[in-house]
Amino acid sequence: MTLKGRDLISIRDLSREEIEEVLRSAKRMIPYAEGTKLGDQLGGKLVTLAFFEPSTRTRLSFETAIQRLGGRCVTIADPSASSMRKGETLHDTIRMLSSYGDAIVLRHPNEGSGRLAAQASDKPVINAGDGAGQHPTQTLLDLATMQEAFGTLSGLKVVLLGDLKYGRTVHSLAYALAVFGAELVLSAPPGLGLPEEVRSQLDQMGAKISEEDQIHRVVRDADILYVTRIQKERFVDLAEYEKVAGSYRIDSALLKSAKQRLIVMHPLPRTGEIAPEVDATAHAAYFRQAFLGVPVRMALLSLILTGKAG
Ligand code: NCD
Repeated sequence: MTLKGRDLISIRDLSREEIEEVLRSAKRMIPYAEGTKLGDQLGGKLVTLAFFEPSTRTRLSFETAIQRLGGRCVTIADPSASSMRKGETLHDTIRMLSSYGDAIVLRHPNEGSGRLAAQASDKPVINAGDGAGQHPTQTLLDLATMQEAFGTLSGLKVVLLGDLKYGRTVHSLAYALAVFGAELVLSAPPGLGLPEEVRSQLDQMGAKISEEDQIHRVVRDADILYVTRIQKERFVDLAEYEKVAGSYRIDSALLKSAKQRLIVMHPLPRTGEIAPEVDATAHAAYFRQAFLGVPVRMALLSLILTGKAG
């Protein structure tokens, strides 16, 4: 079992053991991510970051992970400044980039673009979000956050709240949680439930799933409340977005009935789903979650580029 040279397009590309290996390695990477230890695990390897959609955390945590481990990167952060604007296909862009660097990290608005890129590239491709598809590296850092808080990933009761239709983070996360035997509670505004395809795969995996649209009913016995933003940019009809905008908000009053150890997670950015007053409570895990993106991406890059757990 080795991740060396492999692509990561869907979280389902990784076995349970491989996910556990990344998480173990990520734990050891924390001092490097904090800057208290200096690393050179990537030994000058060059990673190409091709971001064709807005990103703050994902891109900068990849860049931070690379730089802190002695790697180098070149980045397309503004697609309007690249030749895609001149009509170059994703295939051609990726094929060319794969001859420049040692791996490619891709974010793109089209679902399926990660797979397409992996076919065009002879270097490993890491999917950093493909439209409403998958976001596997976010899932790895989500799992790292849960494991750090609870010491385990099994037996957790996780509420997935928000836009489960277009939210790629929850698509990837739901698969991974099913693998670890978590209990899932789906809570989405009308019309924003999990896509049929994701739901049926989860059912085939034997996932324990229930649905509850009244959030106050599930807060009481949940371990994790995973909140997501309504993905406004993916709505074909903005009038449909307006119908559901602002339909849920987590605040201190709601959390009064929660277990003491409940953690609130969010891939960020938040746009009003979590009141800022929650930040000061022991429930707030989202900024720690964002930090853990660095050691998790360090672990993943080290395993993919060098085969070593670091
Ligand atoms: C998420 C994304 O891009 O899918 N952000 C992230 O990577 N942390 C979530 C979102 O944009 O709502």
